[in-house]
Parts: sequence; C-alpha cells; structure tokens
Amino acid sequence: MKIKSASFLTSATGLRDCPRGDLPEFAMIGRSNVGKSSLINMLTGRRGLAKISATPGKTRLLNFFDIDTAATARAGKWRLVDLPGYGYAKVAQAQRADFNEAVADYIEQRENLLCVFVLIDSRLEPQRIDIDFIQWLGERDMPHALILTKTDKQSPSATRANVDRIQQSLLAWRAELPPVFLSSSETNAGRAEILRFIEETMR
Ligand code: GTP
Ligand code: MG
Repeated sequence: MKIKSASFLTSATGLRDCPRGDLPEFAMIGRSNVGKSSLINMLTGRRGLAKISATPGKTRLLNFFDIDTAATARAGKWRLVDLPGYGYAKVAQAQRADFNEAVADYIEQRENLLCVFVLIDSRLEPQRIDIDFIQWLGERDMPHALILTKTDKQSPSATRANVDRIQQSLLAWRAELPPVFLSSSETNAGRAEILRFIEETMR
C-alpha cells in the first residue's frame, strides 16, 4: 500500500463532534508517551503530521487524519485516529475521566472503526493498565492488534521476551491472541507489516 497523501482533518472532544463516519478508521491508543503520534508520522511518512512531544499527555483530543492510498491498491481513502493517551497521572482527575469516557464512547459506538491498535512500550513488562484495556476491548468484541513500540531501544531478544510475557498475561483470561507487530519510528521497522494489515482489514 502506497500512501499518496496524508493530512490532518479535525480534532474532536468526543463522539458528538467526530467527523462523519464515512471512511474506514483505524485508531491508535496506549499509555501516554508510548509513541502513538510518532507511529502515525512513521506510517504516513509525514514527519510533522501528528504532534510529538517529550512532555507526556500532549494529545488530549481525538485527532483524525485522512489518508489517501495509491490507486494500485483496492483500498482508496481511509483514516487514522490518534486517541488521547491513557494512564497519565498528572492530568487532573476530572479531565482524565472525561477523556476516558470520550474514548470509551468512540470505541463502543463508532461504526466505521475497523480496528484499534494498542501500543505498548516494548521495553516494559506487561502493565496492568494495558492488559486491562486489551481485556476491555475483547469483552466488547472490538477487533484489535498490539504494536510494541521503540524496539530500536533494545535487543530483538529482549523484545521477544516481552512479547511472550504479554501473551502469557492475556492467555490467563482468553484463548485467542491478537496480532502483534513490532515497530520503531526511528528505523521504520514494522511499517510494511502494519500497512499490509490495514490494507487486508479493509478488504
Ligand atoms: P502522548 O500524545 O503524550 O500520549 O504521547 P504519544 O504516545 O503520542 O508519544 P509520542 O509519539 O509523542 O512520542 C513520545 C516520545 O517517544 C518522543 O520523544 C518520541 O520521539 C519518542 N519515540 C516515539 N517512538 C519512538 C521510537 O520508535 N523509537 C525511539 N527511540 N523513540 C521514540
Ligand atoms: Mg501523541
């Protein structure tokens, strides 16, 4: 899948002000600072498309990006959605609850949402908040896949060991495992695989 163009469409505070759901959507979620915005830039090949910050909790809105893929692919236009990061303690409690609810509404009710990518830092042991969130998606029959980010920061064997640990945590409560992708926004690792998965999901 070749990306012809990618552009910022709009931001929303919740389901109410989301753009019309007329294109297939793929959403990125994960703990603050895990690399959601960087991954969107890496996948689209547009460095400044999604705002990246060294300060966690930067993305507080649902940000929609229009993607147009080359005519060679059957799939034409689709959307990437950068969701607010969860688990950022410094955001005021009330505001955080607000955003979690907005994200929950979006995931539960957005009919054109085809898949939620859950981003997990490849260097961290399975975190309760990630496992709980993946479980929450499973309970709602929401299709999802995992993306382990920042793999350039450690050895492939260390990443592999963490994939195993995460899968073991999930197998404690369900039989089927979601697809897992390994990515690096520094080296572009995982780009082809993730784009192929998106293309196949749209078929
Ligand atoms: P919030 O919007 O705050 O929730 O963060 P985010 O998940 O969008 O993370 P963001 O893409 O802003 O990246 C956070 C930090 O991690 C930035 O300093 C990035 O440069 C860095 N980063 C992201 N992805 C990678 C990666 O694959 N490799 C390395 N080495 N650094 C990365
Ligand atoms: Mg972000």
